[in-house]
Amino acid sequence: KYNVCIVGGGSTYTPGFLKSFVRLKEEFPIAKLVLFDNNAERQEVIGEFGKILFGERFKELEFSYTTDPKTAYENMDFVFMQMRSGGLQMRREDEHIPFKLGKIGQETCGAGGMAYGLRSTIDMIIAVRQIRQYSPNAWILNYSNPAAIVAEALRREFPNDKRILNICDQPENVIRSVSRLLGCSWEDLDPVYFGLNHYGWFTHVYDKHTGEDLLPKVRQIVAEKGFLPQDAEQRDPSWLETYGFVQDIMNDFPDYLPNTYDGYYLYPEYKYNHLDHEYTRADEVIAGRETRVFKECREVIANGELGEGFHSISDAHAEMMIKVAEAIAFNKNTRFIVIVENNGAINNLQDDAMVEVVCELGINGPRPMAVGNIPQFYYGLLAQQVSSEKLLIDAYYEKSYQKALQALTLNRLINDAKKAREILDALIIANKDMWPDL
Ligand code: G6P
Repeated sequence: KYNVCIVGGGSTYTPGFLKSFVRLKEEFPIAKLVLFDNNAERQEVIGEFGKILFGERFKELEFSYTTDPKTAYENMDFVFMQMRSGGLQMRREDEHIPFKLGKIGQETCGAGGMAYGLRSTIDMIIAVRQIRQYSPNAWILNYSNPAAIVAEALRREFPNDKRILNICDQPENVIRSVSRLLGCSWEDLDPVYFGLNHYGWFTHVYDKHTGEDLLPKVRQIVAEKGFLPQDAEQRDPSWLETYGFVQDIMNDFPDYLPNTYDGYYLYPEYKYNHLDHEYTRADEVIAGRETRVFKECREVIANGELGEGFHSISDAHAEMMIKVAEAIAFNKNTRFIVIVENNGAINNLQDDAMVEVVCELGINGPRPMAVGNIPQFYYGLLAQQVSSEKLLIDAYYEKSYQKALQALTLNRLINDAKKAREILDALIIANKDMWPDL
């Protein structure tokens, strides 16, 4: 049985994890679960909810929550990392500042993602060092955002650490959504994928049983009916709009099925004009999920029993992450789309890029499946973004304003040096004490 820690215990994603650990306790048996957060107040609500949940459904589990790194990290086998550096208040800034200055504000793409990227780099490096102090061999499963930038930072800071795995749920979300369109289970699909995190494409979507490539069928359905998230009924309107971009992209670039985030890079101007600049996704999350999840947990705590609140908690993301841990723990060599150092997986892209590709995942980590050379158009997009992300991490290490300016200038969501300077200057002020001194 395994010992597990969740970093970011006070996240609204945590209840979904707690619920999934109960449901998957046979497949992935755990002995001990510790929540860690530096925000004691948020975590207490989730932690107290957890005590009631496990008290009813998983009595043998040793469960606790803490703000002390030693208590959290000692003797761990798996550490799930879902940090949000700066919290949702800073996510608001990441989204609002670029909008005010005429560019898209998004939490992982564009200037907002770069602002968040520098904050996360600092906090993630500290956290990984602490984890390694107390659990040198634990698997660190990281899905803290912006995953592409965090992955590059961790690659540079911990080059010999083979037990840090960077992974994102969005490619799987797209595949789950495709399965809904096709009327099959997502587990029947065997995709081929390449890209960077939040910037990739599916070149094939094979039927796992027959080997048929279903991409032409997907293309046809998307052209006729558009593209919806698998859990469309539970999604906020902004997400439906983001998924809707898949239809535009496949219309303009029919080669592949895109990741939903590609729309930001391919249509920055159009997106800018369509998005609400005053009420961003962060505002929607604060008013929506944040309020709802904490209210539901508080209700359970007040009642002293699970009742209904338990059923409405969504957990697709948690389920995927637990299956990742299971694949490693039991050497299952299951396929996941993972962020790894390229080393030839995308043949014509530089070896030290952190790319997102299909990997077989087992006890020795991810084994990437090569996609060969990618066409010039996709190569151009990705090489530009890899450069932008690498320059940002250079800026972190060298404390270089110049490198940060280059990073922002190269980002397709900004793409203009004067604008990049203006945004960078505003971000430096907003991120005072949370960024390196540039
Ligand atoms: C997807 C992405 C994640 C991102 C999340 C944001 O799951 O893959 O990388 O963090 O969406 O969702 P939110 O509901 O907070 O906007």
